Formats: sequence, structure tokens, C-alpha cells
Amino acid sequence: MARRATITGWGKCVPPISLSNADLERFMETSDEWIVERTGIRNRQLSHVENTDLAELAALRALACAGLEASELDLVVVATCTPELLCPSVAAMVQDRIGATNAAAFDLNAACSGFVYGTSVVAGMVESGFAERVLLVGAEKLHYAMDYRDRGTAILFGDGAGAAVFEPSSDGDGVLAVDLGADGGKGGTMLIRSMGSRGEPSFTNDPAVFGLHFEGQAVFKIAVQGISASAARVVERAGLATDDIDLVVPHQANARIIDSATRRLGIDSSRVFVNIDNLGNTAAASIPMAISDALDAGRVKAGDHVILTAFGGGVTWGSIALRWGSRTDPVGVHEGELPDTDQNCFELLRDNLDFYAPLHIDKPPVV
Ligand code: UT7
Repeated sequence: MARRATITGWGKCVPPISLSNADLERFMETSDEWIVERTGIRNRQLSHVENTDLAELAALRALACAGLEASELDLVVVATCTPELLCPSVAAMVQDRIGATNAAAFDLNAACSGFVYGTSVVAGMVESGFAERVLLVGAEKLHYAMDYRDRGTAILFGDGAGAAVFEPSSDGDGVLAVDLGADGGKGGTMLIRSMGSRGEPSFTNDPAVFGLHFEGQAVFKIAVQGISASAARVVERAGLATDDIDLVVPHQANARIIDSATRRLGIDSSRVFVNIDNLGNTAAASIPMAISDALDAGRVKAGDHVILTAFGGGVTWGSIALRWGSRTDPVGVHEGELPDTDQNCFELLRDNLDFYAPLHIDKPPVV
């Protein structure tokens, strides 16, 4: 049998500060009813620590789940569009902190499609024999790029990290097929301009430029078409029919996007994993966190055909078809936690609200 890359460990790190729809009602003109009906989101979690801290804890949990020591890894890849620093990469900092002394490390940015793109890269490394054991993390601190007075964007996103360990298998389990695509011409629909080299040094201090620029409706349409077409291609490439699919783990962008895309694909909601209600859209972290939650909930069994599918900034899209291996219970558990905080969401976002206030001078004061 061909050598394939299979997931043998998984873990997630959910930061502790909740931001509910009721909390958002205090910053902006919105309502719990509107947000739930249009997005399916009730709550998101925000991080008081850096992206790298979230990535590190998710990584340690995935390693314990796989029963591996960090020194056994050949490669650490972190998918993120909100790295703590551009250089060194988050992956290099995680490699150092967890003690993956024999591993190479790099970041990968395909925005919300990052974990799917990352899976294709690490699966290729494992299948080719260039790597034996690889850690892939999706980690985001998206709240950093949000204007929390902008109701069209800030309601959607949350922070978090998820991780998976990939190892070789020779019994048919693992990644079966990949579909990736991009349309850079539509890149202007989702922009984070504050972290690149464009502009003058003062560039990032302008609230009109700093935050996420997002054209929700345009993105919505591209997402539904992109995800359903890509998932259909990967199912076919894997030699499967939609009836063979046991579970779809989609990027958690909006419950309506997930519904429309999976309906087009001909997959009923009982075979789709959704956890967006509690976590919101966490970009590259959403699929690995959903994989962790799906395993914890007993939704994945050995031999199941699972589809990962995502859409994101760039614009990018992609899908993975895989057959789940024999491991559905963790080998071990990492007991570490993030440092404590007694901050609430209003305290955490105080500087953010002040920073963006000049863009909203016509609106009443918040909190
Ligand atoms: O991870 C990949 C990237 N993200 C996504 O894929 C998300 C894609 N887009 C979306 O999820 C949706 O387009 C949104 C949730 C962002 C917006 O939902 P929508 O159903 O497309 O609303 P809309 O933009 O058409 O706005 C309808 C109305 C507007 O009011 P008027 O002009 O009709 O008076 C908006 O101003 O709803 C208003 N609105 C809101 N009202 C209450 C927009 N945001 C809000 C809000 N609360 N948070």
C-alpha cells in the first residue's frame, strides 16, 4: 500500500476571555438575534496572551495525544495570518519552546484556508519520506486586527489554536486527495494591511488603515461556491461518492455558508461538524479546533472518510479527503494551561475601542 500521512494526535487551546453577543451589544448597534440568525455565532473567545502562546499549548496537547516527544518531530509548521512577529516565525518560536530540537520550522499564510493548505504540504512531506513526524498548528489572535465598533466584521472573529500530528501509515489510512485553489484578483475583499511592508513607518498607527477590511457579502458568495466546488472535486479525486463521506469538518466562517455549501454538495447536516456557535471564526485555527472537538465528541471513528474544506483571504480555498486512522482516543494528556487572567472582554478591548474611536465619532460612547 502507498505510504500516506495520517493524523495521530490532536489538541486545541481556547483562550479564556469570552465575548458574547450580549457583550457586543454594548460596543455597537447589533443584537444577539441578528448575529445568531445571520451567522450562527453566540460567543467567541479572546486571548490575553500572544498567538505563539496559544500555538505552543495546542502543540503540546497534540504531542501528548500522539504519545510523542517533541524531539521526535522533523518539522513544525504554523498556519496563521496573525503571527506575533513576521520574523522569527511563530513556528520557530514554538519549535524552541516545546524542545523540538530536530525539527525544521516555518509559517504558512493562506488565511482561513491555512490549515488545509498546511495539511497538503505536510502530507506531501510525509508521503515522500522527506519527513516522518510533523506537527501542524493553526493559530490566530484575530482580535488584534478588529475594529470592535465595526459591526460588519468584529462580530465574526475569535482567537484560538489547534494542532495535529501527522505520521506515516501504510494501511490505506491518511490523506487520500487534495484540492487547492486561489483567485488573487479578489484579494481586496479581505485585507489586513497593518502587518506588511507597504507604506511609511507611521502607516500602522492610522485606525482607518490598521484593521481588517472586509466585504462580507462578496466573501459570502465566493465562499459558498468555492467550498462546495472544491469539496466536490476532492471527493471525486479520492474515488469516493458523497454517500461515502462520514463527516465534513468545514472552516467555521458562518453557519449559513456551511449550510449552503454542504447542501450544494448533497451532504445532510448530521454529517457536518459545526462548533461556530461558541468560538466564532478563528481563521486557520478553526479546522484543527473543530477536529479536536469532533474527536472529543466521539464523532470520528477509525476508517471514517472525513473531508476538511476551507475558504479564506487571498482569496484561497482548499479541501482534503482523508481516511481516519485507528487512533480515536488520546495516548496521553498534557496538563499545562495558559497563564491566568482576571481581565474581562471590556478591559481587554479598552485600548482597541479607544484606538478606533476617531472612525466612529458620530456614534454614542460605548461601555
Ligand atoms: O473566513 C472567511 C471570511 N469570512 C466569511 O466568510 C464571512 C462572510 N460574510 C458573512 O458572514 C456575512 O456577509 C456577514 C455576517 C458579514 C453579513 O451578513 P449579511 O446577511 O450579508 O448582511 P449584510 O451585509 O447584507 O447587511 C444587511 C443589513 C445591513 O443594514 P441595511 O443596510 O440593510 O440597513 C447592515 O448594515 O444588516 C446590517 N448589519 C447588521 N445589523 C446588526 C450588518 N452587520 C450587522 C450587525 N448587527 N452585526
